[in-house]
Amino acid sequence: MEKLQKLEKLYEGKAKKLYKTDVENVLWVEYLNQATAGNGVKKEQIEGKGRLNNKITAAIFEELNYRGISSHFIKSISENEQLVRAMKMFPLEIIMRNVAAGSFAKRYGLEEGTKLSHPVLEYCLKDDSLADPFINDDDLTAMNLVTREQLDIISAKTREINKVLSDMFAQCDVLLVDFKIEMGETADGVILLADEITPDTCRLWNLRNGENGQIEHLDKDLFRRDLGSIIPAYEDILERITKLNAKHSQL
Ligand code: TMP
Repeated sequence: MEKLQKLEKLYEGKAKKLYKTDVENVLWVEYLNQATAGNGVKKEQIEGKGRLNNKITAAIFEELNYRGISSHFIKSISENEQLVRAMKMFPLEIIMRNVAAGSFAKRYGLEEGTKLSHPVLEYCLKDDSLADPFINDDDLTAMNLVTREQLDIISAKTREINKVLSDMFAQCDVLLVDFKIEMGETADGVILLADEITPDTCRLWNLRNGENGQIEHLDKDLFRRDLGSIIPAYEDILERITKLNAKHSQL
């Protein structure tokens, strides 16, 4: 993999660009400084965001791997670039919620922070032109977007990822409120966690300094809701996860 070459662009999303490489089944991901919200309606360039999300995602995928959950991640190759395995992605946003917040709180008229009796798994169809609508298992299988067997694997893996991620964040004094992940299939049919796990795609509430009862967001809600700069919060998350990674490398 030493002389790996970046080839043509395959895809440009809101936060990342994806390129082919000269190695089969290896893709080159570039994390961008662009921040968007509301399906791209609010858009800004934020210096440092690409670097932070590249590093955070790498640290989280490494931590998950250490805890027995594999993903498409191969390795970081620069401050804002990484190599990943090529996957056939499911057109799904897989959402897990531990605490009511965001669209769930709004939909059911709940106060943000309301405890849920058990984690809630939701799917949205990944389609910007339809604004990623909510979709259920039957809808997905009826349109042959995924099979029942694939959904069983996706849901079991997502619940496992939630347990491991929640525990990992708890060790850093962070409450994992909810998150969105994506999965795909390798060329030989193995379903794997893919895309990214960053404060763009998780709600992360600070469990330190919480005396005044106020929620302290360490995630993209700072940007979505105009609550302040995301950079110090993302730096804080990176520092906390890097400390966890470091603990394992000393063992
Ligand atoms: P929601 O409450 O807005 O539905 O978001 C649930 C979680 O999913 C939250 O952690 C943010 C994340 N998310 C994304 O990463 N991308 C998206 O397009 C949406 C709608 C949510």
